[in-house]
Amino acid sequence: MRSLLFVPADSEKKLAKGLGSGADALIIDLEDSVALANKKAARRMAAEFIASAKGGPALYVRVNDLASGLTDDDLAAVIGAGPAGIMLPKSNSGEDVARLSVRLRVHEAEAGIADGATRIIPIVTETPAGVLAAGSYAGSYAGTSGRLAGLTWGAEDLSAEIGAAATRDEDGRYTDVFRFARISTILAACAAEVAPIDTVFPNFRDEAAFLRDTREGARDGFTGRMAIHPAQVPVINEVFTPSAEATAEARAVVEAFAAAGNPGVVAIDGKMYDRPHLKRAERLLARATAAGDR
Ligand code: COA
Ligand code: MG
Repeated sequence: MRSLLFVPADSEKKLAKGLGSGADALIIDLEDSVALANKKAARRMAAEFIASAKGGPALYVRVNDLASGLTDDDLAAVIGAGPAGIMLPKSNSGEDVARLSVRLRVHEAEAGIADGATRIIPIVTETPAGVLAAGSYAGSYAGTSGRLAGLTWGAEDLSAEIGAAATRDEDGRYTDVFRFARISTILAACAAEVAPIDTVFPNFRDEAAFLRDTREGARDGFTGRMAIHPAQVPVINEVFTPSAEATAEARAVVEAFAAAGNPGVVAIDGKMYDRPHLKRAERLLARATAAGDR
């Protein structure tokens, strides 16, 4: 998944617009973008939308966090409609993913949906404890790792939690705490062998800054990004689709290793390539194939 577009669940217009946005996934939001008074209506709208949508983007639902007292009603309303997955905000550790997973099992069983069919993408840096426990998502909770589809991060809730006045400095660079959260997400996702997904960019009218920021994410290891506005989707898809040039280079590396009988190291055009290069090339080809399937 390259692009994941947030759509407030209580907006019929945006839900419809999201379908044609070109996003690989929609994140139908029941949390921050929906007022408390609207949660009930939003749950119903989300379920109806998921049940009626055919083909198109993968449909995830962002539920309210496990401490909100709202999660169970969210899940009860939407799992029967068969969403591709759940986004879990304010996740404090892999244990929260395990807790969600147990609930999903029950709802899946009640709805006659295959056990484990509903994937999970936690937002792992919205609480200080969550940032510090980023390593806990890596396979330590039996029965949940198969559900984990990726890890993503958020700066806004974390800044509120720690009382930071801003998340970026005057030059638009994240300050240290948020750089740490961002980097922790990349490492935690790779340790858990799932996709690192970059956070939203709230200033949706500044396309140049968005492009720059998205390219930095791709450079550093993210393989996809969340969007808040349809205009951000094509930018994300473009940045996270491996270029023809990069794909050809990766293919040459894989072929050179295969042709040489899979040794530890090969030379191509006077440059050394060893096992990490092969691994990187294989990962890029897998992403190129996934992008081409859309
Ligand atoms: N998904 C689908 N459609 C969207 C959209 C979204 N996230 N954001 C905007 N649109 C639609 C608008 O409804 C509008 O449709 P129209 O042309 O038929 O009238 C069109 O795209 C252009 O929107 P625009 O006028 O540029 O923005 P806006 O002022 O209507 O909306 C936001 C701005 C920020 C309120 C809106 O983008 C939004 O709701 N984003 C998602 C917020 C969210 O889910 N946050 C939680 C995660 S951080
Ligand atoms: Mg939030």
